Amino acid sequence: MKNVLVVGAGTMGHGIAEVCALAGYNVTIVDINENILSNAVARITWSLKKLEEKKKIESADEVLRRIETSQKLEEVASKADFVIEAVIEKTEVKHEVFKTLDEKCKEECILSTNTSTIPITDIAKATKREDKVVGLHFFNPPTLIRLVEIIKGEKTSDETVNATKRFAESIGMDYVMVEKDVPGFLINRINIRVFVEAMRLLEKFKPEEIDAAIRYRAGLPMGIFEVVDFTGVDTVYNVLKEVNKRGFNVEMPPILEKMVEENALGMKTGKGFYTYKSFYDRAKIPKKYAYSLNPLQILAPGINEAAWLLRNGIATKEDIDKATVKGMAYPKGILRFADSYGIDKVVDILKSRKSKTKLEEYTPDPWLEEMQKEGKLGKKSGEGFYKYNFEKVDFGPVRYEKRHDYALITMRRPEKLNALNEEMWVGLNQAFKKAEDDEDVRVAILAAEGRAFCAGDDIAVMGSWKDLKDGTDFFEKIALPLVNTLAYYEKPLISLVNGNAFGGGMELNLFFDVVIASEKATFAVPEGLIGAIPPIASSFGYMLFGRKIARYLLTGEVMDAEEAKELGVVDLVVPHDMLEEVAIEFVDRISMLAPLSARAIKRSMNAVRDSIKVAMDIAAREIELLIPTKDFAEGMRAFVSKRRPEWIGR
Ligand code: NAI
Repeated sequence: MKNVLVVGAGTMGHGIAEVCALAGYNVTIVDINENILSNAVARITWSLKKLEEKKKIESADEVLRRIETSQKLEEVASKADFVIEAVIEKTEVKHEVFKTLDEKCKEECILSTNTSTIPITDIAKATKREDKVVGLHFFNPPTLIRLVEIIKGEKTSDETVNATKRFAESIGMDYVMVEKDVPGFLINRINIRVFVEAMRLLEKFKPEEIDAAIRYRAGLPMGIFEVVDFTGVDTVYNVLKEVNKRGFNVEMPPILEKMVEENALGMKTGKGFYTYKSFYDRAKIPKKYAYSLNPLQILAPGINEAAWLLRNGIATKEDIDKATVKGMAYPKGILRFADSYGIDKVVDILKSRKSKTKLEEYTPDPWLEEMQKEGKLGKKSGEGFYKYNFEKVDFGPVRYEKRHDYALITMRRPEKLNALNEEMWVGLNQAFKKAEDDEDVRVAILAAEGRAFCAGDDIAVMGSWKDLKDGTDFFEKIALPLVNTLAYYEKPLISLVNGNAFGGGMELNLFFDVVIASEKATFAVPEGLIGAIPPIASSFGYMLFGRKIARYLLTGEVMDAEEAKELGVVDLVVPHDMLEEVAIEFVDRISMLAPLSARAIKRSMNAVRDSIKVAMDIAAREIELLIPTKDFAEGMRAFVSKRRPEWIGR
């Protein structure tokens, strides 16, 4: 194969022609419009010169010499070995073009179409070689997005598909297979669901909030509305209208229609969902909006669509994920997103949207419901769309779950506000050690069941100490091992504070690298009020936050989550029901780091802790000395009987 014919020299045609010429093919570009043809050559020339300047190619002229243009399809068609049609999206025009191609092209020549919405089967009918007509769907701009969808029409032969795969590879394109000629093929079906959902969510959220969640949390390079503005609001509208006409059940969002009427078409008109001063302007999307809604809320209808594609044998899960990564620049495939957040959460979102909107299109795909029924919830259960390494072990009241690349360690003594009794200290230590020893685990997360995070040391236990030795033994044998494990932990640690974190429960957080708190979380180190001291906060905490912590140590005052963030204990305050999702997103981000780098960072930070070892030892000694005092005994008694200790006002 030497000669490629590209029909249509517009937005897509000129880019496709450039890609083919760069790969070494002789390319003929045909268009009915002379201006568009010369414009196409000018754009290709500009782009090739840039590549030459950047030394990505040796000679722009050499590539250009392989390109010729023509306005007469019937004259140039006969020398083509492979045809890519990219004319205007009108069925009658495509029919006309394919009729001519069929008449003039060599018998063995494959005729491919770049159509986005017209069935391949329908286009093929204009020819007498329906087996040799195939969909070859590029993305804009083809020079950058190195992925195509190869779509089988009803009569497309396997031979044609195989030759098209080889051709795609020969021009440096990766491909995904779309086994049946369904409206919207693969990527547009998923995109439409996600775009439409984002538009419907505008009832409750600002575009910046939706895009901030997508960009800063899901990690896509552009927000949904940025993509729509870039693509063209009218283009999205047209694709949606066309695929809808062809049986893809999606209700047109009124805002889309309205914007088309008002000529708010995106970057090209200076106004779309955002306003643009110039074409190269970018929308401003403040990071602070990222926690208005979960990204899964926006992705869930796309995941539902992906499940439909899978169930109907239209695409494989690997291709669906490849399409979202390579075609849409998702940081990971949409099915991987589903597995990370949890299939149960996807189904819940769809059901709640369905009951709110009454739209059938939100009905969870039977495939998803089946997965949920079988407990295939994703990483959290060891299997979702993919399989994961999974392990669940209970260490007393502490549950350890290995979820492939992270460990979730949960305190499960909610009736005692997860207070730290012996079993809890020991269980936590065992769980964190297990996570540290497991090579698969990249991050360990601490979470709590129930309303409270952790109420600190179990007062009942402390109250039972009779003398110095009881307390010393407890600290040295039970509590210190966990403190040492956490203080010198060599993997990143995330803590999810869902409610009250008091005393030891607050102090443990000081060893964590990222502390994410619910809006409902509160923090306090009130040990002084019961005749004891918060040893970690008084020493290590003072090093971390300086004098700012003294006030809380000396008054026992309760901080809300925002105050704790201001102090520096907390990194992020998020809505209560978002905690788990945010942690999962952090795991993804941290997992991008080389494991050895993460370890080296942790080791370096931990070494700083050595420098305050003296202070920590003193604090530990101080608490041990307090245990046999009258104040301590009185403090314990007062706490248990809920009265004021007698030293107040003494
Ligand atoms: P465009 O409007 O920029 O270009 C279409 C070109 O076809 C025009 O230059 C027009 O003069 C030419 N044309 C019309 N009738 C012709 C004929 N009989 N013979 C030869 N040339 C003829 O459109 P665009 O955006 O490049 O789209 C082309 C095709 O690619 C459509 O099928 C579209 O659905 C598809 N597509 C577009 C994408 C996009 O982002 N714009 C992405 C993927 C596919």
